[in-house]
Amino acid sequence: MKKSKKKAIKAAAAGKAASKRAEKNKPIVMASRTARVAKEEPKLYETGNDLPKKSRMETIELLNKRLADAIDLHMQMKQAHWNVKGPNFIGLHKLFDEIHEATGEYVDTIAERAVQLGGVAEGTVRIASTRTQLPEYPQDIADGPSHVNAVSTALAAFAHEVRSSITEADDLDDADTADIFTDVSRGIDKWLWFVEAHAQAAK
Ligand SMILES: [Fe+2]
Repeated sequence: MKKSKKKAIKAAAAGKAASKRAEKNKPIVMASRTARVAKEEPKLYETGNDLPKKSRMETIELLNKRLADAIDLHMQMKQAHWNVKGPNFIGLHKLFDEIHEATGEYVDTIAERAVQLGGVAEGTVRIASTRTQLPEYPQDIADGPSHVNAVSTALAAFAHEVRSSITEADDLDDADTADIFTDVSRGIDKWLWFVEAHAQAAK
């Protein structure tokens, strides 16, 4: 056998062995229960959750819409907390921070429900900014009544979206997601009351 032919056979054998080794060392994640399913549905993970796949997919989409709103609301409350001024400063400053904290819980609950259903929580600030249904928080206000008005507007807009999502989740036969939205909207109604009470006596 010629030297060059011998070399080629040796190289081919080495290549085969290398690919065998690579196959052996391949991560087994794709075989696990959390592996991504078919390519045409890249964002749905396998799960033992018995809700129908179609229902889960649509509910995940709905949850991600409300997640964007909730993230926006969460930071709008900090904006109010930082910038409010006037005679009711300390009360409003603390109240807006309490609402910020509560909305952080809503963000987490909504995001985690999407993941429980086999989805991906799409919760980056950039995604939220392109999807949010809330009006932008005004930048040119300072006094308490203006912030009370702006925060009330944001809370009412979010409550409206969440309340309509209760019905949508019910229509998708996902009573648990409907329950989460019910819980969130009940909480938002309370915060709206706390904020609006500052303005109602004056009317
Ligand atoms: Fe603070």
